[in-house]
Amino acid sequence: MRNIKHLAIPSLIAFAASVSAAQADKLTFYCSAQEEWCQLMARSFEDASGIDVNMTRKSSGETFAQIKAESSNPKGDVWWGGTGDPHLQAAEEDLTEPYVSPMRSELHDWAISQAESAGDKTIGIYSGALGYGYNTDLLAANNLPEPACWKDLLKPEYKGHVQMANPNSSGTAYTTLATMVQLFGEDEGFDFMKGLHANINQYTKSGSAPIKAAGRGENTIGIVFMHDAVAQAVSGFPVKVVAPCEGTGYEIGSMSIIKGARNMEEAKQFYDWALSADAQNLALQVKAFQVPSNKGAETSESAPDMSLIKLIDYDFKTYGSSDERKRLLQKWDEEVSTLPQ
Ligand code: F6P
Repeated sequence: MRNIKHLAIPSLIAFAASVSAAQADKLTFYCSAQEEWCQLMARSFEDASGIDVNMTRKSSGETFAQIKAESSNPKGDVWWGGTGDPHLQAAEEDLTEPYVSPMRSELHDWAISQAESAGDKTIGIYSGALGYGYNTDLLAANNLPEPACWKDLLKPEYKGHVQMANPNSSGTAYTTLATMVQLFGEDEGFDFMKGLHANINQYTKSGSAPIKAAGRGENTIGIVFMHDAVAQAVSGFPVKVVAPCEGTGYEIGSMSIIKGARNMEEAKQFYDWALSADAQNLALQVKAFQVPSNKGAETSESAPDMSLIKLIDYDFKTYGSSDERKRLLQKWDEEVSTLPQ
């Protein structure tokens, strides 16, 4: 107080403003799920807690890269959504903070296993199977056969009709790459990615962009999580969803607290809230058809039924490890993305 007495009036006003700014509860929220869901989560948490939320949506691989780049001076507090692999990599690289939420007992085993395999530095918030979707009108207009398997997508008649994201930026596309390696073995998996490359019209930044483009009639087939294709179909677009005949991989969408978070208490408050059934039920308002991790949350009737899909035993530990993710991405960059189309 002695020092304050000597401050001139304008400095005193500035001092008071800075004290109240420091006291205002806030949260910097990095989001890697779909934009509408990210917005709704941010606004609903503000309403529930009175904490101001500053949300940025970026794809899973991009958010991982940002958190890594900011690690000496972290700007984000909590990372919610996006595929589990880069969350696991962040945990291994010590970019995220261990936390055991009191909400954990309400979760499915698959969500808890994700936490246990990462020293409690991440946790599962939803799951969803990989597949693809196609625009039925465009398929018919181009006299193309209906694809049902992954290997169908290699047929020369689909040249220029297939779109997927870039696996460096997108968790969906990295899941696709890791799925092919697990489903067919590494050599055949990379041969598949090379054959597919010949038919790809564009690698997008975000994982769901290819099926949104199919919904708009700008692309025929989009390799995406099946729930993203369902979202287009229930919105009235002519999109058919495919669970590929050979079997497929899946994601455990995850959440992590960023190490060195400036607003650590607020991050933990968000984390606990985001694991509640009520918060997870918000998904239903924005056509997010993932399977929620809280056992008491509702799964939409439109959500793909995971028990009817032939799922591989996706090895999250291996494909979410720092070395393996870096190795596969580098190999894809060097051996697939550089090939002529
Ligand atoms: O659109 C939703 C979603 O598919 C999530 O299920 C998934 O975790 C996320 O997007 C992945 O996005 P991206 O591929 O852009 O990283």
